[in-house]
Amino acid sequence: MRKPYVAGNWKMNLSRTEAAALATGIVQGINCDDIDIGVAPPSVYLSAVIDAVEGTGVHVAAQNCHFEPKGAFTGELSPAMLLDVGCDTVIIGHSERRHIFGETDDLINKKVKAALAAGLKVILCIGETLDEREAGQTNDVCRRHIGEGLNGVTAEQMADVVIAYEPVWAIGTGRTATPEQAQEVHAFVRPLVASTFNTDIAAALRIQYGGSVNAENALDLMSQPDIDGALVGGASLKVESFLKIIEETRKAKAPA
Ligand code: PGA
Repeated sequence: MRKPYVAGNWKMNLSRTEAAALATGIVQGINCDDIDIGVAPPSVYLSAVIDAVEGTGVHVAAQNCHFEPKGAFTGELSPAMLLDVGCDTVIIGHSERRHIFGETDDLINKKVKAALAAGLKVILCIGETLDEREAGQTNDVCRRHIGEGLNGVTAEQMADVVIAYEPVWAIGTGRTATPEQAQEVHAFVRPLVASTFNTDIAAALRIQYGGSVNAENALDLMSQPDIDGALVGGASLKVESFLKIIEETRKAKAPA
């Protein structure tokens, strides 16, 4: 049994006060016994959010990191710095990093390896653009993102890896993948991971879906057998909708 995992990616939103209030609102409404919950605030608010969720078991993730441990890299944050302030997770390879900031699979792979080696957990984002989907390249793109993103990661380190399948055309567009479309890709990714590592690792791997997940569509998406949770953008910025997505996920994954 995979423990479901719902994470909120706050992107470049909220003020310090709003971030702390959102974190406080979330922890008042949850328990993490049967579900993993994570939040990824802007890095300048990490400390405020870490204080707000202290002792609750909520994971706090950075939205990015650099692969070098220290040095002359203006504007960057090392994995050790993120751990130092109390983060336990980092999102790597988000489509906005890939497409707006030009991050390549090679750069993403360096970050994944550096983060895992430092002791962070990693949410590695993969997913195709609309052009790629329409050209029938969805599986090829996901194979490349997984193959190159996880290149050199050890079987042992895979316990600290979560994959987020986020079709680029569904992110922030309100146009979510249908549960069947999402399940199809998740069911492609799992054996891919089995062939790279082994079937036990693939069976234990959490694969989140991301892309316009909201309180209304979460139950249907999370009811799919290979969808193990969600990476939520817009709908994670409000306590009520994020808590509803968590509840719907819990409902979808409750043993029959
Ligand atoms: P969205 O973003 O839920 O606003 O589509 C998802 C993401 O980018 O992680």
